[in-house]
Amino acid sequence: TIDERVEQILSKLSLEEKIGQMTQITLDVVTKGENVYVSDEPLELDIELLKEAIAKHKVGSILNTANNRARSVEKWNKVIAEIQELSMQEIGIPCLYGIDAIHGTTYTAGATFFPQQIGMAATWNPDLVKQGAQVTAYETRASAIPWNFSPVLDMGRNPAWPRMWETYGEDVYLNAQMGIAAVKGYEGENNELSDSTKVAACIKHFLGYGSEKSGKDRTPAYLPEIELREHYLPSYKAAIDAGAHTIMINSGIINGQPVHANVDYLTTLLRDELKFDGLVVTDWADIQNLQTRDKVVATHKEAIKLAINAGIDMSMVPYTLEFTDLLVELVNEGEISIKRIDESVRRVLKLKLELGLFTKPYPSKDDYPEFGSEKFEKMAYNSAAESITLLKNDKRILPLKKGMKLLVSGPNANSMRTLNGGWSYSWQGEKVEAFAQGYNTILEAVQQKFGETNVKFVEGVTYNHAGQYFEEHVIDINAAVKAAQNVDVILLCLGENTYTESPGNLHDLYISQNQRKLAEALAATGKPVVLVLNEGRPRLISQFDRDMSAIIQTYLPGNFGADALADILIGEVNPSGKLPYSYPMYPNALGTYDHKPSESSNEMDGMYNYDSSLPLQFHFGYGLSYTTFAYKDLKLSKSEIGPEDSFTVSVKVKNVGERLGKEVVQLYTKDLVASITPDSRRLRRFKKVELAPGETKTVSFTLKASDLAFVGKDLKWTLEEGAFKIMIDKETQILKLNNSRQFEHANTL
Ligand code: IFM
Repeated sequence: TIDERVEQILSKLSLEEKIGQMTQITLDVVTKGENVYVSDEPLELDIELLKEAIAKHKVGSILNTANNRARSVEKWNKVIAEIQELSMQEIGIPCLYGIDAIHGTTYTAGATFFPQQIGMAATWNPDLVKQGAQVTAYETRASAIPWNFSPVLDMGRNPAWPRMWETYGEDVYLNAQMGIAAVKGYEGENNELSDSTKVAACIKHFLGYGSEKSGKDRTPAYLPEIELREHYLPSYKAAIDAGAHTIMINSGIINGQPVHANVDYLTTLLRDELKFDGLVVTDWADIQNLQTRDKVVATHKEAIKLAINAGIDMSMVPYTLEFTDLLVELVNEGEISIKRIDESVRRVLKLKLELGLFTKPYPSKDDYPEFGSEKFEKMAYNSAAESITLLKNDKRILPLKKGMKLLVSGPNANSMRTLNGGWSYSWQGEKVEAFAQGYNTILEAVQQKFGETNVKFVEGVTYNHAGQYFEEHVIDINAAVKAAQNVDVILLCLGENTYTESPGNLHDLYISQNQRKLAEALAATGKPVVLVLNEGRPRLISQFDRDMSAIIQTYLPGNFGADALADILIGEVNPSGKLPYSYPMYPNALGTYDHKPSESSNEMDGMYNYDSSLPLQFHFGYGLSYTTFAYKDLKLSKSEIGPEDSFTVSVKVKNVGERLGKEVVQLYTKDLVASITPDSRRLRRFKKVELAPGETKTVSFTLKASDLAFVGKDLKWTLEEGAFKIMIDKETQILKLNNSRQFEHANTL
């Protein structure tokens, strides 16, 4: 068995070799020169450096790519074959290579790029998420890489956070469903990693990442355990139960303590309570950060002791090979037990065996004929088409008519970079244009649909830097206004430049001033303006949204996003995306749809008006269609239940418009009275259905009473007797629960 093989190998390893298996470096450490970006060249391993890492330090894992630049699939195969040959020769154990293929195989030229996670969440279609993960697994394996640092299961509950777009949005149930789909897509239905079209998933970043108080990446978060368990933990539990093989730790500090040093999270919660027995890897340099950034210890050695004893299996060092020597010392000095080391090494070896790397450390050429195929591209297009979300459509200006004359404007109109966002061909996405050739920008896709002669283009405002978030500089708003004179409609493409992680930190959530000025100037022409948003997080538009005739959110839709958008604009595709987050209206009114009731109050008390409400631009789950759906006959199979019971909720949904369309039926519940103030609403189930004009479908959901539980005062999942409101669209029913009880965990499946 695999376990026996693990023991056999482990018994032959020296302490140094064991520690090498716990060490991950970045490819830069073992490549020649500066690896300056040129489409495919140069990426050359420095064999001396590689030998030093593998033969001397026994390094067992490598990540990313030199200088974070994409290379061809052939180049990847060559580089990894060299690494694997040397690893087998020197230590007899294959290397575990990992990358962030978060919406496609990030560093492989010609790979298929899907919408980023936030867009995949907006499809409200877990089958598409699974499909996207399957394609990415295939293309990542084709690049000889068996480990993917994806999916992100952090919650997108703070719209300022620059990694919001890497999440499945603000709701824990939606997150859990998409997370399960992604894990199954990457690893296979039964997590069969020996299948060479699958990769090991890495759910990240455990736990509480994204809840930074300031919204700035990796700054302190304060998360009471009751909140952590109610809104942050269940999606991890669901993905662990779905068999995810590896997990990455949150770089941040929660309640004053760095998560990498937190034995309560890393061992008591993750191992003992959630029963996770896979591999735990740090984030970038985060053991050393305990000393250099977070100041919880004075030396690197103490940092290593703290983190390894807390439960880390593998350290993403990524440059400092000092880690291996210090860890050997710590074990020899008795500060870390050999038992702790063996536990970690067993997990690394087991994963390598499960992935089949010992028998086939790298693929044979031609093993992956479907890499970059049209079939895969069509899947990416379908995901983009189902993600794009129509938020406003005054006087039904959309779909536009063929033959209309358009002015296309805005900094996001002619950029493949902004369509893809970060982790696309490079970390910050700054080199997308060079690799995403042959795909359409919004301008190009619109020209193809409406005819080149019908489409004028004046950018008006442009970004002044290719990567990272930077303010734009104005080119010429007046030229855009002038060009609007003889057109029927203006397509204004605004949003954000690319960024990943901290370079995307923001002081101001409003869309930039220059873009607002462009919007106002174009609206003042009197021509209808269709605002296309292309952004990783909801940038505030409340200063000018009223002047826009239509608003469409594209998120970061990938290489086929513009084609999908153009098909929606012309009416060949009916939009069906729904917001996976609450779109705020004001910077001081940030909140989530599941807020407490006091956040929706707007009361008069004598002469004072207390407005505690969180007015939104658009609410969670919102999205229009070119057709209209009507709901009726919400029914419960039982009106009273006990805590062990299941019940069914059904509703009839009818397409009362004139076009075929897809609708997301969303089931919410509300606990009317509870000992912990209940959330205003909670999403419990959803289903996307397609309806022809005039067609009615009955949609049913089966729930368990435990679906209605919340985390109580004693931190246990609690179900309290009383009444619950069951809601689908505007239809409601009351369900009575007759008895109370507690559960160990919420039901997330
Ligand atoms: O996986 C990522 C993580 O999300 C952010 N820091 C770097 C890691 C490896 O690239």
